[in-house]
Amino acid sequence: MSVIETEKLTKIYGKNETAITALDHISIQIQEGEFVAVMGPSGCGKSTLMHLLGGLDKPTSGIVRIDQISIAEMRDDELTKLRRKKIGFVFQFFNLIPVLDAAENAALPLTLDGEKPSLANAKAREWLERFGLENRMHNRPDQLSGGQQQRVAIARALVANPSIILADEPTGNLDTHSGDEIAGLLRNVSNDYNRTVVMVTHDPRIAAYANRIIFLKDGKVIDETILEGKNGNNAGVVAEKMKTISD
Ligand SMILES: Nc1ncnc2c1ncn2[C@@H]1O[C@H](COP(=O)(O)OP(=O)(O)OP(=O)(O)O)[C@@H](O)[C@H]1O
Ligand SMILES: [Mg+2]
Repeated sequence: MSVIETEKLTKIYGKNETAITALDHISIQIQEGEFVAVMGPSGCGKSTLMHLLGGLDKPTSGIVRIDQISIAEMRDDELTKLRRKKIGFVFQFFNLIPVLDAAENAALPLTLDGEKPSLANAKAREWLERFGLENRMHNRPDQLSGGQQQRVAIARALVANPSIILADEPTGNLDTHSGDEIAGLLRNVSNDYNRTVVMVTHDPRIAAYANRIIFLKDGKVIDETILEGKNGNNAGVVAEKMKTISD
């Protein structure tokens, strides 16, 4: 079953002669538990696509369906609920709150939602432990490495138990080693916890962790590749593909 589906999704910024078509009739389907990478040159519309999939912005035309329901048809409160309960967001620059420790940061979506702090913290700790941060619960972001901060951010994205994770360049601010760790972790999030993960990346090595890659150019889907190999073994294949596409 498609968890995420778009139909002729189009986004035009601005009007008349200054109008920019960021997405041009994009129709994609993403299945439950899939790990999909979205690749393409700067400005091709990757972030715009993520914003529309997450209901953070509205399309100019076309449809986004989450669990078969068009989000344009949802009332504001339903859309807010969708963003809070069904979708977790991960960003390039982690976006953690500097004055909160790892456990408090990861618990935030639940505490903001009025959950009892003890329960919110317990759930946050579970994810942080799964991500190897059991000894870092009470460190603030400035006391953590970039890779550790991103793991806290992914724990925060998962704490309310969403079925979808949208990650825009989650390894863009990390060194090679930490980037691989985060890509592997997102792969596990999809494999072991059956979450649907959509990840934007520029990096063929990182995209190689996905099950499938969607290539965008000038706001259009120009290619899709299904990856069969093990984690990371496909980097060469992906790099080769990118080369043919950009030629
Ligand atoms: N709020 C906005 N107003 C006007 N134009 C915008 C806006 N956001 C994005 N754009 C334009 O839309 C196009 C797609 O932008 P988008 O940020 O989706 O690209 P991207 O693929 O994420 O790029 P990058 O790899 O650099 O992050 C670009 O031409 C960009 O300049
Ligand atoms: Mg972007």
